[in-house]
Amino acid sequence: MKIDILTLFPDIALSPLSDSIIQRARDAGLVEIRGHQLRDWSEDKHRRVDDSPCGGGPGMVLQPGPLFAAISGLKQENTRVILMTPQGAPLKQARVRELSTEEHLLIVCGHYEGVDHRIIEELIDEEISIGDYVLTNGAIAAAVLCDAVIRLLPGALGGSQSAIEESFTDPNLLEAPCYTRPVDFMGKKVPEVLLSGNHGKIARWRDEQALARTTQNRPDLKP
Ligand code: ADE
Repeated sequence: MKIDILTLFPDIALSPLSDSIIQRARDAGLVEIRGHQLRDWSEDKHRRVDDSPCGGGPGMVLQPGPLFAAISGLKQENTRVILMTPQGAPLKQARVRELSTEEHLLIVCGHYEGVDHRIIEELIDEEISIGDYVLTNGAIAAAVLCDAVIRLLPGALGGSQSAIEESFTDPNLLEAPCYTRPVDFMGKKVPEVLLSGNHGKIARWRDEQALARTTQNRPDLKP
């Protein structure tokens, strides 16, 4: 897979993708990630890429010119062009799974008040939000999307079965609590059932706990 990230802050987008599992996936050639500075496509002598919103209002809007030149230049035939914006569709694991099968992602990061809408109409395939809150820029959101996608690439998690098992779990149910050694930590014990060796009982306990946790933390999921 190839990923291009177009942003005013390539270092912010790339630094979370330059360590640990994601860096190993890059080193193994599973993914090639490149950051691009949007200002490189500005024709302004001060490298400006924004202007005030038509119709008035606060903040600045990314101009269509530099975005058009950059996206047209980076886009290929097999490219999925994604805009990171709080106005996008909320990102879910099912969409992450679909995106992990794409050959080329071009991730465009919004900034300030937003992006001139003509660019969205002409060049953006989909708008994605990573949650109902507003970040200072889309570069952090792009890194979140990349991390979620890259960990699903075959081989990224090494010998671990985590990604495969995950795809069989109910997306409307949170996972049950987990524990490891020591069995007694400052007087707090690991639940007896998890040490029983009875896999049927353990599975039932995890189902109950998952349901209770979902009801408590995510009543919106309605398991
Ligand atoms: N840019 C700013 N906030 C964002 C969000 N919540 N999701 C995606 N991109 C963003």
